[in-house]
Amino acid sequence: MRLAERIKRLTPSGTIVMAEMARSLAKSGRRVLHLEIGEPDFATPNHITEAACKAIKEGFTHYTSSKGLIELREAIAEDLERRQGVEVDPESEVIVTPGAKHAIYCACLATLNPEDEVLVLSPTWPTHFTCIRAAGASAVEVPCGENYSLDEERLKESITKKTRMILFSSPNNPTGGVLSLDEVKALTDLAADHDLLVLSDEIYDCITYDGVEAKSAASLSGSRERVILINGFSKRYAMTGWRLGYAVADREIVDAINRIQQTTTTCPASFVQKAGVAALKGPQECVEEMVKEYDKRRRFIVERLNKTLGLSCQNPKGAFYAFPKYSAKMPSIELCKRLLREEGVCTTPGRVFGRYGEGHLRISYATSLDILSEAAEKIERFFTRLGEELKG
Ligand SMILES: Cc1ncc(COP(=O)(O)O)c(C=O)c1O
Repeated sequence: MRLAERIKRLTPSGTIVMAEMARSLAKSGRRVLHLEIGEPDFATPNHITEAACKAIKEGFTHYTSSKGLIELREAIAEDLERRQGVEVDPESEVIVTPGAKHAIYCACLATLNPEDEVLVLSPTWPTHFTCIRAAGASAVEVPCGENYSLDEERLKESITKKTRMILFSSPNNPTGGVLSLDEVKALTDLAADHDLLVLSDEIYDCITYDGVEAKSAASLSGSRERVILINGFSKRYAMTGWRLGYAVADREIVDAINRIQQTTTTCPASFVQKAGVAALKGPQECVEEMVKEYDKRRRFIVERLNKTLGLSCQNPKGAFYAFPKYSAKMPSIELCKRLLREEGVCTTPGRVFGRYGEGHLRISYATSLDILSEAAEKIERFFTRLGEELKG
């Protein structure tokens, strides 16, 4: 046995099974429509790319402070104050990381002890579970109501002596649900009553529809010192490959995350941080345009899914995922495999997002209307056939 015990906690997720199957189908010449990919299909806006190129050409290619460039941390603080009314000290309460994922991983490592329990609003992004497990703690799933509404009673009942943190993401991946300000307040109040930390993953907070606003958990008075706010550049500015994110927290937690970062990555790439400054300080119309386009796709796909036999889909209020429920009695992994094998449409099984995701499939609409339209037809055909098969 050459591997450490801790690596057993990092189990590969069901998304890998789907990706491998899609790859082998494509290799055999089949056309595969990818609705499983959780990243913007837009190019990173030009002024951001140019800022990185300029930094490289000017020789800005060395280590930075392990917390990130102060110029970037100041830009993050200004952005949070302007959009969310969150006041932070860029010197001591912000740390820039190579992606929001790394910020979540470090935050879990910095604050969780083995045996601790984390209440996770479910369904949720699978990496939330693995980061908790990586720290030796365990995730306790707390189901949300329809379209990711807070079940306050259920959350309260789930608190035990071992509970140390509540973790959630709003807008939510996979449901597209957004908690209201009252719900976020109820959650942070509960955390305060029981002296718990709150990890609030706000990576999709700029992608909302129909005038819905995703309010930051850190914006509530009195909750700042217990909230670890996570955000990043991947979704808002179509910068997934650049690897740039951040955590905002109490200075003690930021210092602890900094020690992990000093031990692991040192800092995010210097010129990528310059691109981050350009993103936050530059024009924001590019974000509005992308959101407008996602909105068109959202309206299209949700309508088509709701017209499909055996499917019902809530209207997502944020992010770029639809999470239809299906009526067939079949595990979501089996259903998604069949949809891929029979129609060449790759989606993500709901079970990947926790036990309360079962009975759903996740469809990413971060892809063109043409692809969505072709996929919608195939999905309709598949569910009609499945309905007849199950009847007969
Ligand atoms: C809820 C959530 N948080 C964080 C991330 C990852 O962000 P990053 O690319 O900055 O690591 C994702 C990516 O899918 C996500 O869905």
